[in-house]
Amino acid sequence: MSNREQMNIVIAGHVDHGKSTVIGRLLADTGSLPEGKLEQVKATCARNARPFEYAFLLDALKDEQSQGITIDIARCFFKTAKRDYILIDAPGHIEFLKNMVTGASRSDAALLVIDAHEGVRENSRRHGFLLSMLGLKQVIVLVNKMDLVGYDMAVFERIKKEYTAFLAPLQVKPIDFIPICARDGENIAERASWHTGKTVLEYLDELVIPPSRSKETLRFPVQDIYKFTEMDDERRIVAGTIESGTVSVGDKVVFYPSRKSASIKSIEAFNRPCLTSAVAGNAFGVTLTEELYIKPGELLCRADQVPPMVSQRFRGMVFWMMHIPLVKDRRYKLKIGATRVAVELVEIRTMIDATGTSDTGSKQQLDRHDVAECIFETIKPVAFDTALSNPSTGRFVIVANYEIAGCGIVLESLKNDHSVLDEHVKRREVVWEGGGVGVADRYERFGHQAKFILLTGSNAQLCRNIGHALEANLFANKYLAYYLGYSFFEKGLSAGSNNSESNKDEDLISLGELARVLTGSGHIFITARAHLDGGDIALLERLNQPHEILVVTAGDFDAASLVSHVALNANVSVLDAVNQIYEVLKHKEIIPDFSI
Ligand code: GTP
Ligand code: MG
Repeated sequence: MSNREQMNIVIAGHVDHGKSTVIGRLLADTGSLPEGKLEQVKATCARNARPFEYAFLLDALKDEQSQGITIDIARCFFKTAKRDYILIDAPGHIEFLKNMVTGASRSDAALLVIDAHEGVRENSRRHGFLLSMLGLKQVIVLVNKMDLVGYDMAVFERIKKEYTAFLAPLQVKPIDFIPICARDGENIAERASWHTGKTVLEYLDELVIPPSRSKETLRFPVQDIYKFTEMDDERRIVAGTIESGTVSVGDKVVFYPSRKSASIKSIEAFNRPCLTSAVAGNAFGVTLTEELYIKPGELLCRADQVPPMVSQRFRGMVFWMMHIPLVKDRRYKLKIGATRVAVELVEIRTMIDATGTSDTGSKQQLDRHDVAECIFETIKPVAFDTALSNPSTGRFVIVANYEIAGCGIVLESLKNDHSVLDEHVKRREVVWEGGGVGVADRYERFGHQAKFILLTGSNAQLCRNIGHALEANLFANKYLAYYLGYSFFEKGLSAGSNNSESNKDEDLISLGELARVLTGSGHIFITARAHLDGGDIALLERLNQPHEILVVTAGDFDAASLVSHVALNANVSVLDAVNQIYEVLKHKEIIPDFSI
């Protein structure tokens, strides 16, 4: 292998606008075809009395490749004096789009072909959107088939104006537009007499290979936490793949959305000696100077760099790929960075019209292949970037029924003034039909107020033990107390069901709704669930409204990071814990204080 520079170019555009012809021409005119190939294809055409097309060259190459071991029909190779190019033909089909979105294929630049005679069409727009999705900053638009419009530069200028305006909100600014006639090879490798600007090849050789992502701001989505359990080793390894930037031992880092901070103690690579720093593109783990409790899905960033956005609401551009439409009032799963979180469509702002008719009306849903600017809301705060500032953490996928249903880019983080959940709670309180028995009636009957007691912290067993003891104790004192463990919510009503792709958010929502029912009926409802974070608790608090929640934290380091009403020591005895909770219940007049 030579060590010549290599550049990946994706070629996109509407059906029949001339993508394959452009590729055929690039191959032929740079002398990159196998010896005799051009003559062979021309001869075959003549034999079959078919006019020769440059696009046929690709088919001929495909046939050849498919007889070999590796079949890679989407790629072609050509070279200039400057470097080697890999051309990726972008057919419009969904599998290809998914590959692009999930990062399976990376390109350094794009050529977008538009037929001068037909003008901007559906895929010209869709592919334009995808280029923005991919964070491709280097785009050259080729206005092809200039012969069909009599080389009329007014037509070229019109297309240039229209398409530039279309790309602007997508944050794609083409390097330039080139009028070409691919069939005749005009302005591809050689300049036509009617053209004064650069040729396609001249432009390609001027493109730069984007600087390595290791120079950007550190973004390290946490995929997993590994814990050493041997010999009292409390070390946790925070593992994932760096999306961008560099991290070194000693760096002060902050996790988002939790905003917990620590310094990097060590960088552990699998089966290799420890590193002093690690760069984008690599999977590895870090240990921290503080034993923080971090959840998978958080975003590790450097304290000395621009922080990500943390919000529950954002404006994004989404491309919907599923047959079933994207609708409001339905929860989907959003994957952004390493986070998976429940999300709802709040509003469709603007349809990016792929069909060219200006009448998109006020659409209430996104159908297959629709592209639109929308507002989304997640059930809990999420850390992300805008696509413009960091494509890898500003890009998202929407999952429905376990498949990738849509993909998009984040345009803006929004404030969450009135959340979908608040709306839900408000509506719920109207729709759920209560009886005539009021809070005061229940108080008189039961002799105590209702409360939702949530036990959380780093020690699941301790939380559970306290929960059981608290229920037994309150019950013995004739209070209406009820304990239900969290595993109920994980497993659902059918005990054996395996809800492994676990919809943790959905479980929390069920818990919140159930708490609202039980507190409504006057119960002191107790549950235990280790490792809840601030976002989880805020969610439960909202769902339990208008009733209140009492948060009891038990355990070590992570408990300290939560706002809790009762903070119990890590080595508290169960009896002592129950007593402390009792004191707070009395103090808050949940249960009467007979000692007064
Ligand atoms: P799909 O792969 O089917 O999406 O099409 P494509 O974009 O690859 O288009 P292709 O290169 O196959 O060209 C489509 C038709 O347009 C062919 O018949 C080409 O000969 C014709 N064509 C391509 N470039 C030109 C051109 O500059 N002028 C004229 N008149 N026809 C052209
Ligand atoms: Mg083609």
